[in-house]
Amino acid sequence: MLLSLITSLVGLAVGSPLVSRVTQPPTFDNVTIFTPPSNWSNQWTTYARTVLLEQDGEANNTLLASWSFQPPGRTYAPIYQSKDGGLSWSERSKVYFSAADTADSIILQVFLYEIPQTIGAYPAGTVLLAANAVPVNHSSTNIELHASHDKGQSFEYVSTVAVGGGPNTTDGATPVWEPMILLHQGELGVFYSDQRDPKHGQKLAHQTSTDLVSWGAVVNDAAEANYTLRPGMTSITQMGNGKYIFSYELAYAPEDPVNAPYAIHYRIADNPFEFDTAEELLLKATDGTIASAGPQTIWTPAGGPNGTIVTSDSTNSEFFINRAYGDPSAWVKVASGKGVGYTRDLRVMPDTEGTVILVTNGGMYNRNQTIVSCGEWVVPSA
Ligand SMILES: *[C@@H]1O[C@H](CO)[C@@H](O)[C@H](O)[C@H]1NC(C)=O
Ligand SMILES: *[C@@H]1O[C@H](CO)[C@@H](O)[C@H](O)[C@H]1NC(C)=O
Ligand SMILES: *[C@@H]1O[C@H](CO)[C@@H](O)[C@H](O)[C@H]1NC(C)=O
Ligand SMILES: *[C@@H]1O[C@H](CO)[C@@H](O)[C@H](O)[C@H]1NC(C)=O
Ligand SMILES: *[C@@H]1O[C@H](CO)[C@@H](O)[C@H](O)[C@H]1NC(C)=O
Ligand SMILES: *[C@@H]1O[C@H](CO)[C@@H](O)[C@H](O)[C@H]1NC(C)=O
Ligand SMILES: *[C@@H]1O[C@H](CO)[C@@H](O)[C@H](O)[C@H]1NC(C)=O
Ligand SMILES: *[C@@H]1O[C@H](CO)[C@@H](O)[C@H](O)[C@H]1NC(C)=O
Repeated sequence: MLLSLITSLVGLAVGSPLVSRVTQPPTFDNVTIFTPPSNWSNQWTTYARTVLLEQDGEANNTLLASWSFQPPGRTYAPIYQSKDGGLSWSERSKVYFSAADTADSIILQVFLYEIPQTIGAYPAGTVLLAANAVPVNHSSTNIELHASHDKGQSFEYVSTVAVGGGPNTTDGATPVWEPMILLHQGELGVFYSDQRDPKHGQKLAHQTSTDLVSWGAVVNDAAEANYTLRPGMTSITQMGNGKYIFSYELAYAPEDPVNAPYAIHYRIADNPFEFDTAEELLLKATDGTIASAGPQTIWTPAGGPNGTIVTSDSTNSEFFINRAYGDPSAWVKVASGKGVGYTRDLRVMPDTEGTVILVTNGGMYNRNQTIVSCGEWVVPSA
């Protein structure tokens, strides 16, 4: 389903005489989406995510963005909107979470998704928001799913996919983290980081649903034989050859502990629910750089006959591109012109033949004062 959608989008873009922006340079950079008001006691933002609405006429090409922050009073996930491809932004709604129901509770690690086909009571075009809600007493982590029937104007609580112990990254603690959503063959998967399995300090796993309410068993995506190694921060995308690429950080990875303590690894598979048995590969560029921490990976049809995989990490300003469907010898580090950021969001923009990527930066983690910003980046041609 997703493959045919992507193929038809690619075909459309390439064949269309209406494409107007292809030869143009990026039109903007460093657009501020959100700055915490000066009278807020917490001035940080981080971990921004966007979604491009494509399933409905009126809202087509509307961008939505969300991120983590700490507003005064009961916390919420912000939903901002842009109707001009990221050039200007305004608030659309606020989403409150069941398990973050008081002041100073926290909503971490948001993820936005527009479902491409009807699933259960949720028609194509429903916007989903998942995040990790933490009550003020830090007693648990809760991966909650919320849905919007009106393109992000309002959201309703749908279900809690996974519950873990309080937020604590020490081995032996049992939290869950970092949800990511993908629909495949009629099943919606919520992928996340999981410290609950006593065999692994942390592993990556997913659960699936056909109604968004009841969730199947926990299925491993990356679970290392060495207990100490901690795969984290799932990012999955489908490539033009139909295969899926799954990128993640690997904390305490042995390859280059000084420069890449969270070395990015990746796997390729035909089915995004069957990564556990796929080979683990290292994202090492031709100049020797190993990407490290918080990857986000997309594939775009631009840049060559195989299109281009683009991976952002949370350590380097540069991006890592691959024009050979993930061949481990074909990663090239390229300038981004963007500031480094914690798990920067990448989005292929419409009507550009895939050449323009919107890069959204929620700000580095653990800083006192950060903003949410975005800018365009042009995929280098081969
Ligand atoms: C911050 O300032 C705005 C605008 O003056 C005001 O509406 C709001 O209540 C203030 N918030 C806090 C937490 O003081
Ligand atoms: C909205 O976008 C989808 C996907 O590109 C397309 O199939 C549909 O025709 C568009 N609708 C309108 C009204 O432009
Ligand atoms: C922590 O807060 C949650 C939500 O308010 C509550 O349900 C839970 O009982 C509290 N746990 C402890 C140990 O106080
Ligand atoms: C974090 O988890 C470790 C291992 O279970 C435990 O020893 C430690 O007390 C926990 N820290 C907090 C702040 O709860
Ligand atoms: C497990 O990984 C850690 C961190 O890289 C390393 O120090 C340790 O030697 C590894 N253990 C084994 C048995 O390979
Ligand atoms: C396209 O990818 C294939 C591997 O799937 C590779 O053999 C080929 O060289 C690539 N083409 C280019 C132009 O990079
Ligand atoms: C945008 O910000 C980055 C990082 O601070 C900077 O390197 C770049 O020059 C800026 N670009 C523009 C067009 O101002
Ligand atoms: C952040 O604020 C704290 C408390 O005011 C201060 O101790 C710390 O140095 C600040 N950190 C940075 C990076 O500015």
